[in-house]
Amino acid sequence: MTDTRTDARTDTPGDVPPHLTRLTFHGPLSETRATALVRRLAAAKPSTVLDIGCGWGEFMLRVLDAVPQANGVGVDLREEDLARGRRDATARGLADRAEFVAESALGTTRGPVDLVLCLGAGQALSTAEPPLHTDEALKELRRLVADGGRALFGEGFWQRTPTPAELSGMWPGASAGEHYDLARLVDTAVAAGFRPEWIETANLDEWEEFESGYQADTEVWLATHPAHPLAAETRDRLDRHRARWLTYRGVLGYAYLTLVPAA
Ligand SMILES: C[S@@+](CC[C@H](N)C(=O)[O-])C[C@H]1O[C@@H](n2cnc3c(N)ncnc32)[C@H](O)[C@@H]1O
Repeated sequence: MTDTRTDARTDTPGDVPPHLTRLTFHGPLSETRATALVRRLAAAKPSTVLDIGCGWGEFMLRVLDAVPQANGVGVDLREEDLARGRRDATARGLADRAEFVAESALGTTRGPVDLVLCLGAGQALSTAEPPLHTDEALKELRRLVADGGRALFGEGFWQRTPTPAELSGMWPGASAGEHYDLARLVDTAVAAGFRPEWIETANLDEWEEFESGYQADTEVWLATHPAHPLAAETRDRLDRHRARWLTYRGVLGYAYLTLVPAA
């Protein structure tokens, strides 16, 4: 019987761990919520869409699919993700309306647009330390959205104040002050010049789907490549991330704010 765990034929340096291939969105977002969000945003009939920190831009592509007159630009720094976005756009017949550009969103001169998306990428719009990056990101979104348009902001918040023990199990330097709670997050959007059309938050199923999908392809790769030169560091990375996620599970929230510029 072949022991696949020690199959040296697969342990070549070129056979690297996969990168997020099991994720549809790079965040805790279910199909049901994505469909409702797209429907709501499409109802405002945007012609121009800008996706800040788009990654592979799955959400933007769905908006373009739903709004045939719309053109979209996604900006990100990760070429690998942008390439996936371009491939997906081509496969769905959207390549002539979807552009994926490798550039920083910081101080972008793009816009104003009818719909600006910023999902899990508030840090792309600000150099301020958390949580003030949220205030700055929201002011930037207000600058980037045309009057009568919409912004969709996906951002973390504390479901409750984390204990010191929980903070020490999260990412390095995690502090209770680095996120707002949901009420403060929405107040910050209002202070930046928006009104909230819709306020919703990712549920535990969405988190578990996201965090499992975040690691699943690499876990399966590791199980079948135990002697690969990258195995040890990959195992460490997976173990570290799993420990962190299972610490912030139920403590760190994620909000989707559909925002209308205030007149
Ligand atoms: C959590 S991912 C979210 C990706 C995507 N919005 C989604 O929801 O699927 C955050 C993204 O922000 C991008 N990013 C970070 N800093 C950036 C910057 N200065 N300019 C553009 N993108 C940036 C990262 O490369 C990453 O793809």
